[in-house]
Amino acid sequence: MRNETMRKNLFLGFAGMFLGLCFATTASALLPASAARKTMQAATPPPVSVSPSVTKTLSLTPDLENGAEIFGVCTACHMPGGPGTVDGTYPRLAGQHKEEVIKQIFDFREGHRVNMMMLPFAQSLVSEQEVADVAAYIQSISTQAANGVGPGTALERGAQIYKENCVSCHGDNGEGNGEKFYPKLTGQHYPYVLRQVNEIADGKRGNADPTMLKIVQGLSTEDKEAVSDYVSRLKGAETAAK
Ligand code: HEC
Ligand code: HEC
Repeated sequence: MRNETMRKNLFLGFAGMFLGLCFATTASALLPASAARKTMQAATPPPVSVSPSVTKTLSLTPDLENGAEIFGVCTACHMPGGPGTVDGTYPRLAGQHKEEVIKQIFDFREGHRVNMMMLPFAQSLVSEQEVADVAAYIQSISTQAANGVGPGTALERGAQIYKENCVSCHGDNGEGNGEKFYPKLTGQHYPYVLRQVNEIADGKRGNADPTMLKIVQGLSTEDKEAVSDYVSRLKGAETAAK
C-alpha cells in the first residue's frame, strides 16, 4: 500500500516535471525575438561613457610622425618602444588601443584618475591633435620586451576567474576592445595589473567601470592575485593592435 502511494507520487512528480519542461520550451519558442534580444542585452554591460574631449580627439586624423616625436618625452618613464617597467611602476603602453590611451589621458587631466607622476605629462599635451597623434603612435608600436609576471602559484584558479568574470569585456586573450573603451591587458606587467585591480576594488580609481568594480569587489586578496597573474601571462600582444 505504502509502495503504491510512493509510486503514485513519483509518477505525479515526473509528470509535473515533464509538463514544466514542455511549458518552458514552448514559452521560449513563443517568446518574440525582440524579448529574446532584450534578455541578451541585459547581460551586455552598459557602454563606457567618455567626455566630449575624447569624442572630439577621436574624430581627428592622427599624424603618426608627430606622435613619434611627442612620444620621446613619454619614454623617460614608459621606456623606448613603450614596454614600461617589469616592476609595474610604469605600465606598458605599446599596442594599447588609441581609444583607451585618449580616454586615460583626459581622465588624468579631468581628475577622474589620479597619479602625480603621470598628471604633468597628460597636461603637457597642449592640443587634442597632440593627444590624437601620440595615441595613434602608441597603438602602432609593438615591443618584444618580456613583461613582469606573477608568482605562478595559482594559475588554474586565475584562469577560471578570468574566464568567468573578465572575458566578456577584456576578451579571451586580453585583447580588449578599442571602440568600446575596454583596455587591452595582454603583455601588461603583473604588479601594474594587480595595482589597478586593487585600486578599482578599493574605489581609488575614479574612472572605474561600474560593472567591473562590482566584480573585483567580490574577489578575495588571493583571487585578485591569481587573476592578475593569469592576465600577465596572456599572449597575443603583437596581434591584437586594433
Ligand atoms: C614621470 C613618469 C611618466 C612620464 C614621463 C609619462 N608617464 Fe604615463 N604613466 C606614468 C605612471 C606612473 C602611470 C601609471 C599610473 C597609475 O598607476 O595609475 C602612467 C600611465 C599612463 C597611461 C595609462 C595606461 C593604462 O594602461 O591605463 C597612459 C595612457 C600614459 N601613461 C600615457 C603617457 C604619455 C602619452 C606620456 C607622454 C606624453 C606619458 N605617459 C609620460 C608615468 C609617466
Ligand atoms: C563590464 C566590463 C568589464 C569587466 C567584466 C571587467 N573589466 Fe576590467 N576594465 C573595464 C573597463 C571599461 C576598464 C577601463 C576603465 C577606464 O576607462 O579607465 C577596465 C580596466 C581594467 C584594468 C586597468 C587597465 C589599465 O591599463 O589601466 C585592469 C587591470 C582590468 N580592467 C582587469 C580586469 C579583470 C582582472 C577583470 C575580471 C576580474 C575585469 N577587468 C573585468 C571593463 C571591464
